[in-house]
Amino acid sequence: MKISNRIKIFSLFAGICTVGVVAMAFTTKVVDNPPVTGEVEAPVVVKNMLQRACYDCHSNKTDIKWFDKLPIAASIVRRDVVTARKHLNFTEWDKLSKGEQDSFLWEAYNMINAGNMPLPEYAALHSNAQVTKEELAAFRAYLETKRVKVTNTIDTVHTAAVTTTNYPIAPTGIQFSPEFRNWQVMSTTSRIDNTTMRVMYANPIAMKAIKEHKINPWPDGAIVVKVVWEKEVDSEGNMHPGKFLNVQYMVRNAKQYESTDGWGYAKFETPTLKPYGTLLTAQSCASCHKAANATGGIFDLPTSN
Ligand code: HEC
Ligand code: HEC
Repeated sequence: MKISNRIKIFSLFAGICTVGVVAMAFTTKVVDNPPVTGEVEAPVVVKNMLQRACYDCHSNKTDIKWFDKLPIAASIVRRDVVTARKHLNFTEWDKLSKGEQDSFLWEAYNMINAGNMPLPEYAALHSNAQVTKEELAAFRAYLETKRVKVTNTIDTVHTAAVTTTNYPIAPTGIQFSPEFRNWQVMSTTSRIDNTTMRVMYANPIAMKAIKEHKINPWPDGAIVVKVVWEKEVDSEGNMHPGKFLNVQYMVRNAKQYESTDGWGYAKFETPTLKPYGTLLTAQSCASCHKAANATGGIFDLPTSN
């Protein structure tokens, strides 16, 4: 066979393959779009951003591009969309409680802020999916209007700290603040495990509730913070706190945190006080704290009680 004939046959073959792939691309069904039951509500800027950057995966309005239908790509896209919808679906928003909706919005904000969402490989192909600084700021401003407001003098200080600093915020909307250092120590323990030391602080609302035996349920605004260190034992057998490990919050708001028995949970890990886990983590915090039902979800009350 002459070289030129081989080239002709090869080009013909390549041509057929291309036509085949393109034809598949136009016929492959990647995912279905089930009916929208209820859509997320937010100011226009925020809503537009969610639609543009998140809806392809987190909604029943997935817009599949031709290149998403190419072999291999199609199965990746299908897997992403199915998983993403299971985690968070902005068009089945009515299936979530008010508290869950707010928490998911905070988690969405954190995900974007951390550069985890939209998925980087998706953003690389969909150039308009990137969330702009302005959009992120508008999202944050909107969420600030939804923050749980706890009214007492301590919390005015807390709010001031929040607005003047950039402390991390957990998926449940709870923001770290060093304010707890001014609160009373509720208890200390190293009961459950032997490797850490823990100190619990309670804010004035929580301390008052303990004193008045009004802890079932705890009043809204009660906050308990647990600080955990590694336990160090020196050569003489004395114990003292070693490496600072994490700070854990329980913030009482019966309505906002209905799905976790009225307590909002957050954990911040050192050294950067990075918020730990997702909303599912908060569910697992709550399911263990159910064991303390008799005392309203709090395990370690002051020993005098
Ligand atoms: C290309 C698909 C895709 C896009 C676009 C996308 N996500 Fe995701 N998202 C996923 C997948 C997949 C997961 C599940 C990740 C896992 O299980 O590790 C997820 C998980 C999440 C979660 C965690 C939910 C939970 O259960 O805790 C949040 C929050 C989230 N995405 C927010 C967003 C936001 C906000 C946007 C838009 C700015 C966005 N995502 C865009 C695919 C996507
Ligand atoms: C496996 C069970 C379990 C899980 C899961 C759990 N906790 Fe606890 N938690 C406890 C116990 C037991 C105490 C009692 C104090 C101690 O011994 O450290 C406690 C104490 C606390 C306290 C001090 C108030 C109290 O009840 O004494 C806070 C705040 C707290 N946990 C937050 C969290 C957060 C946030 C999470 C999820 C990230 C979480 N906990 C997950 C068992 C659990």
